[in-house]
Amino acid sequence: MKFYSVVQAVILSACAATPVLASEARWRDCRTCHAVTAPDGTERARGGRSGPNLWGIANRPLAGDSEYRFYSDDLKLAGQRGLRWSEANFMAYLAEPTQFLRAATGNPQAESGMHVQLRSGGRELFQYLQSLSQ
Ligand code: HEC
Repeated sequence: MKFYSVVQAVILSACAATPVLASEARWRDCRTCHAVTAPDGTERARGGRSGPNLWGIANRPLAGDSEYRFYSDDLKLAGQRGLRWSEANFMAYLAEPTQFLRAATGNPQAESGMHVQLRSGGRELFQYLQSLSQ
């Protein structure tokens, strides 16, 4: 039996906005739990601390925020396997976090610690996060 306790944050594309504005709008659905904080402590995007810092997420190893203490075992395992947050991995994870982790770990029982799904706009969000990390 499949059981998904997924709080779906379904984010619709903003049609008439510029790409950056659209991404900032989407970021609102992440910042409850995530901030983007530079190594020197500068907050590039304010946000909560219940999720890992997304500074430098592009090409960072999975579960690569050394300050974050609450990674799920499955995300850590995927990171230990050498996976990184390429744009494709980022988009696949946000579309279906648990399915992504099951594929990444080879464990059909793997569960994501993040219960959020992003149906569209993953690429723009990835680019937006990259732009905040420079
Ligand atoms: C309700 C809180 C919450 C929200 C909202 C949320 N996340 Fe997460 N996120 C988490 C948690 C908790 C984890 C750690 C998951 C784990 O350990 O399995 C995580 C992990 C991640 C990771 C992996 C980071 C790493 O260091 O490997 C990325 C990337 C990510 N989130 C992106 C996003 C984006 C983009 C959004 C907005 C669309 C978002 N998250 C919304 C809680 C949240």
